Amino acid sequence: MKKVLVVHYSQTGQLDSITKQFARPLVSAPDVQVTFENLCPEQPFPFPWPFLTFLDTFPECVHRDPPPLKALDIQADDDFDLVVLAYQVWFLSPSLPMTAFLQTPLAAGLLKDKPIVTLIGCRNMWLMAQEDMKQMLDGLGAKLVGNVALVDEAGSFLSFFATPLWMLTGHRGPFLGGRIPRAGVSQRDIDGCDRFGIRIRERLRAGGPLDETLLRGLHAVTIDDRLISSERTGKRAFRLWGCLLRTLGPKGSWQRKPVLVFYSVFLIAMILTVVPLGVFIRKITTPLSRKRIARLRADFATPSGE
Ligand SMILES: Cc1cc2nc3c(=O)[nH]c(=O)nc-3n(C[C@H](O)[C@H](O)[C@H](O)COP(=O)(O)O)c2cc1C
Repeated sequence: MKKVLVVHYSQTGQLDSITKQFARPLVSAPDVQVTFENLCPEQPFPFPWPFLTFLDTFPECVHRDPPPLKALDIQADDDFDLVVLAYQVWFLSPSLPMTAFLQTPLAAGLLKDKPIVTLIGCRNMWLMAQEDMKQMLDGLGAKLVGNVALVDEAGSFLSFFATPLWMLTGHRGPFLGGRIPRAGVSQRDIDGCDRFGIRIRERLRAGGPLDETLLRGLHAVTIDDRLISSERTGKRAFRLWGCLLRTLGPKGSWQRKPVLVFYSVFLIAMILTVVPLGVFIRKITTPLSRKRIARLRADFATPSGE
């Protein structure tokens, strides 16, 4: 009997649907035992999010300072053949429940020397979060063998409005008579997720290696190279502002609020001015940076490949 652990968390249920479809071929296999562990923060995160609470979460996300989780059922010495970590991205970082899990002694025991597959469901900016994830897994002595990333169907520009509206109102849309489309990952992409479970089941049955080749050739990720430098700049800015906010007070404190309000105006101004300028500059310098971008693309797509 092969044993697979699936660790997951979802606010709207979207990532849970993705995870369920991903794991379906394993759950239905009589020779595979799948254990699901749902992460529950001691103090649940709100949904829909009040605007300032939403924004006030970024310093702790980027500085990996999560609130505690409720105890899980599994033990640190339970032995799994493969671990799937299903997480969403919060502020270009793994969401706080997943970061909290990775910081527990339980994760240190469970994940050491184990093959790991990460499964991401997010708007469309996951590159920096996955770099954090790689670092945290390295620190735990775990081996990342696959990554699947599903992103919102609305595309980069429209999802920039659709996804925050979903998070702040609790409604998925469409909004404004369809000018802002429905937020979230498409049902088609979710339905297609069982191909990864099928591949894992085949590999487990064949006793083949659970290595970086596990999910190759299945279009597990798509890299949008226009987002690489925006994500890098954004993460740097989040770290800096996050540092400032954390020196003012803990999450939720009144001292942070005026700076958060200022920051939200600043952020919107930057997005409307600096981001389009950056896109323009990158467009005209593309011929000079083609090789470098191809290298970065390959790095970010590791290990599953595009
Ligand atoms: C606080 C917060 C920050 C988010 N930041 C990002 C982000 O930086 N990049 C991104 O692609 N999606 C971001 N999202 C969208 C989530 O990754 C995800 O798509 C959404 O929360 C739905 O996930 P669920 O399964 O938990 O409902 C954010 C969502 C929240 C609530």
